[in-house]
Parts: sequence; C-alpha cells; structure tokens
Amino acid sequence: MDHIVMSAVTSPITGFGALASSNFGVFLPALVAALAYFQYEQMDPESRPIDVPTDELLERYDFIVVGAGSAEYCSSGSTRFSGAVVANRLSEVNSWKVLLLEAGGDETEISDVPLMAAYLQLSALDWKYKSEPQGQACLAMNNGRCNWPRGKVIGGSSVLNYMLYLRGNKKDYDNWEAQGNPGWGYQQALHYFKKSEDNKNPYLTRTPYHSSGAPYHTPLVASFVEAGKQLGYVNRDINGEFQTGFMMAQGTIRRGARCSTGKSFLRPIRLRPNLHVAMNSHVTRVLIDPKSKIAFGVEFVRDGKLYRIRAKREVVLSSGSVNSPQLLMLSGVGPRPELDKHKIPVIQDLKVGHNLQDHIGLGGLTFLINKQDSITLERVYSVGPLMQYAIFGGGPLTIMGGVEGLAFVNTKYANASDDFPDIEFHFVSGSTHSDAGAQIKKAHGLSDAFYDRVFRPIDNKDAWSVIPMLLRPRSRGYITLRSKKPFDPPLIYPNYFMDDFDMKTLIEGVKIGVALSHTPAFQSYGSKLHRFPDCDHFTLYSDPYWECMIRLYTVTIYHPVGTCKMGPFWDEEAVVDPQLRVYGIKGLRVIDASIMPTLVSGNTNAPAIMIGEKGADLIKEFWLKTARYGRTLAGI
Ligand SMILES: *[C@@H]1O[C@H](CO)[C@@H](O)[C@H](O)[C@H]1NC(C)=O
Repeated sequence: MDHIVMSAVTSPITGFGALASSNFGVFLPALVAALAYFQYEQMDPESRPIDVPTDELLERYDFIVVGAGSAEYCSSGSTRFSGAVVANRLSEVNSWKVLLLEAGGDETEISDVPLMAAYLQLSALDWKYKSEPQGQACLAMNNGRCNWPRGKVIGGSSVLNYMLYLRGNKKDYDNWEAQGNPGWGYQQALHYFKKSEDNKNPYLTRTPYHSSGAPYHTPLVASFVEAGKQLGYVNRDINGEFQTGFMMAQGTIRRGARCSTGKSFLRPIRLRPNLHVAMNSHVTRVLIDPKSKIAFGVEFVRDGKLYRIRAKREVVLSSGSVNSPQLLMLSGVGPRPELDKHKIPVIQDLKVGHNLQDHIGLGGLTFLINKQDSITLERVYSVGPLMQYAIFGGGPLTIMGGVEGLAFVNTKYANASDDFPDIEFHFVSGSTHSDAGAQIKKAHGLSDAFYDRVFRPIDNKDAWSVIPMLLRPRSRGYITLRSKKPFDPPLIYPNYFMDDFDMKTLIEGVKIGVALSHTPAFQSYGSKLHRFPDCDHFTLYSDPYWECMIRLYTVTIYHPVGTCKMGPFWDEEAVVDPQLRVYGIKGLRVIDASIMPTLVSGNTNAPAIMIGEKGADLIKEFWLKTARYGRTLAGI
C-alpha cells in the first residue's frame, strides 16, 4: 500500500496551485494524498481488524453480532459502535467464539478527517437513503424528500465532524426506567458511560486530531458564547452537572468516545483468536425456527454468494435504527399486516419499525456579517489550510462545515428550573452558501431552484448560522419494507411535525436563535438575518414566517432511534424487553440505538456506546451466571 500512496502524493502536491480555485474535486485527492504522506505513521494500516476469509469462517459461533447495512464510516454517531462494543466485550470470554459481520469494508483513518464525511457523501459509498415525501417538511428538498445519508450526518450541520460526545440529560434515562425498564436509570447508565470512557485507547492519541495542538476557532464562536451570556445563559461544560447553557465545541467536549474510540473497540483486540470479523458480509436474514422460535443463525451474502452460519447461543442485531428493524421484518418478526403484504411468514407479530423519532431542526438560519471572520470555501480549501491540517492536524479544516459551538436552551414550554432544556443549538461559523453550493446544498438535498433563489445571491459571503434542534419530538414515524428483497432500502416515514407541539416548540427555538443575533456580541458584526424570499408573504418575525422556513428547510441531525423499542411486556409497542431480548424469540437481541424508548436530549453517539456496553453485560450476566449452561462456564 505505501508505495502506491507515495507515488500518488507527488502529483497532487505539484498541483496545489490549482486548489485556490476552490475545486472540490481536485482538493480532496490532494488532501488524502498529503495526509497519507505526512501522517503515514498515524495511519497505521497494519493494525486494521483482520478480515477473515470466508473459507476460514467456522460453521458455528457462540455469538453472531450483526452490524449489517452499509459501511458506517464512523459518522452516524448512532448505531454501529454498539456492535463493535458488543463484539469486543463478548470475546473477552476466552471460550466464546464470536463472529462480527459487517456489510461494509473497513473504516479508513482518512474518514477521521472532518472533510471526508462530505467527500464520502459524494461517493458511491453513500446509500443516500431518503424519507418518503409527506408534504409537512423538507419542502425545499428535491421531491420533498429529506436526505437520510447513511452513515453520516448531513454536511452543513456536520455534527458528525465532531463526533460530539454528549450523554443526554439525566432525566432521559430516569424516564426510560419509569416507563418500566428497570436497570436503565441514569445512575446505571452512568456506570456504562464511564466504562467506555475509561476504555484505554492507544489510537486516540495517534489520530490526526489528537496529535494536534490547540484547536482552531473562528472569533465568531467566542461571540456565540458571549451572546448566550447576554441572553442570561451560563457558559459551562454541558456534559457536567447541568445541561442548560452555552459552550465552545472544540476543546471542552470530552473526546473519550469519538469515532476513533469506536474503532478502538476492535483494533486493539484484532489478534483475539476467538473473535472473527467478516467484512463485506451483508446479512439478509436471521434464521429462526418457526416452531421453537429459536434464532439459530444468520444468512448473509458475501462476494455475491449466500452463506449460512449458526449461532449456538445468540444472534445480536446492532445494525442501527434503519437496518435492525428491516432485518427483523425480513426474518418474520414484525407487524403482521406488513409481513403479510410481502408474503413473509409471520413468526412473531411485533411493532417493529414503529416509534421512530429523530432530531430535526431548521437549516439555513443565516446571519450575514460585515467582517471576514467566517469559514468560506474560498478561504479554506486552499494550500495553506491543507498543509496545516496534514502536517499538524490543526487549522480550519478541523471545523470546515462543522459545529463550533453548542448550547441547550429553554423555550417558554420548558420549565427552566428543571434543567431539562427542549432545544439544542449547533453553532456554525458559516452557512449553507459558504461553499457556494458545492457540497452542503447536495448534502441537504436542496433543490437547485431553492438554492438559487435563497442562497446563490450570497454565495461565499461571510455569515454565521445556528441550527435550532428539537430535543424531544412528540411526533412518531415508522420504517417499513419496500419489498422482501433484502437489498431494497426500506421505506422511511419520519412524520415530522405530525404533532403540532413539535412545530410550536421549534418556532420558539428559532426565536431564541434570532435573539442571539440581536445581542451586542453579534451586533458588533452587524449580524443581519438572511430572509427566505419563499416566505415573504408572511410577516417577518411572525410565527407563520418561522414555520414557513422550518417546513421548507427541515434538517435531520440524523439521530433516528426507537424502531425496536425497549419496554415492559405490557407495552404494546415494545419489541425488546429491558434485557434487550426480542419478545417471543429465543436467542435474539437488539443492541443499538433502535431500542431507545424515547430519544435522548443530545447527540446519540455516546448513548449508543453505552447501550452496547450494557447490552454486552446483560448477555454475560445471563450466560455466565443465570443460565443453566452458565455453570460450566462460570470459572472462566
Ligand atoms: C418546575 O420545576 C421545578 C423544579 O423541578 C418544580 O419545583 C416546579 O413545580 C416546576 N414548575 C412547573 C410549573 O411545573
């Protein structure tokens, strides 16, 4: 590999002069090559998980963990890590043979580069899931369909670029427990948050970010925190005792569980003889005996061939909120009418795919400024920042399109003394137009006509934006099968704003965002709201005006959860019990963000890892302590 990389590096470097023309297509290969050249040590290709060839796979394993679906590229922040955590923890038991099936290939170190997420989205590696048109949201998008980029958060909001590590609010977990899920309260969750955070990770310090010095900031983010103070909020670590407040994203966010840590759950244990990882293996079905209702293996496609492998103890689905329900339904576990429609024999009638919740917000809430302090494509995609990033791991590329500031605020519907804020802000020192339509427009699926009307006139102009995001939506959507063909993407109906309260709350969130622009901190930049001409028939600053913007430019932060809901047996919507076992089926668990009964009040990466840790412990507890077979294993 190295000589290929080295030779590739020479021509892009000589071609750097062309980069100032902000040609995305030229820039990216150059960045990749430069990274490979300057950070070859950090890239450490030898430490990759070993991809076990098919003829070396065993006929049966104790546990099969399914990370089916596409390559996640460690960006969705919501699903895939659970599987890596589970496989790691289960294979700690020497006598257990564990198989981890992954539909995608290996992550690359290059996918750690913030910019790469955008690049992957342009590539064939993005499955480009889209929601079905529902007429309530995403009206500025092509065909009224919201982009659900697979494995990554949409470009401009770029939460993924930070792999934000947020635990959510304590009350989220206490509410789970109160809904009939013993063992899932905040105190217990905290135990597992700490466990994964303490996971010693040699790779963390070797990634480009962590070799870098001080993080790069635009001056704008300081104004963001200042503006928050001027509105009466506190500047604080929102992962600490209290959640309400404002903070800079860089530097203060705990790095304990970012992307590279997810990786580290597999890499340090690559030589464990009892763990097999098979990549490019797309699981198409869980094998369940219809009489005994025991899950006894999986069926998967690799290199165009269909294989079956047996599980002696359990099959674990960690495929995420889209693919876990799809896989269950394909295997005969799901809502009867739905399975009947596709002529799939029903083994267990459960509300699989229901209870879908997602974080959504308003995109493109843009404030033009009169200083050259923001991030624009012209300034950033050039030789200087590229070399700065490649050599030192610093500079503006670490924030390009990314979130520099975070805040949790209370609308009038929240009880401010409860510390249970209902809106999160992602602060971006740029906006949709900052790359002149090169990437963010596509990532958000905006139609050309909308972009040209609203943003084209301000291409590359200095601006900041804030994405107000609804933390606890009341609307519930669902995911269902398009067909019984496993390679067909499922149908996604998010039902955004189906509950009117969601719109009301988000409108109040937008108002707080606008109030920020009126503070002295942001008025020192002459911050001025950029209007959507499409909404000009409403009075500016009126609720209908904000509603018009929200319905047009709805952005998902890509945190879908809840489609395999955890709940007590009396809960008609529950798919798994509090031990994460699929109701009515033996030897089958779901361990990923899809089990969340309600969406947590923050980004879902850390909670998904917590679920993986706890799920693995539940399995160990069962097989090593409770189960009959366990007695023979107990001494191990
Ligand atoms: C707001 O929260 C505080 C503290 O939890 C509580 O004492 C108070 O009753 C709440 N107020 C309302 C109106 O619910």
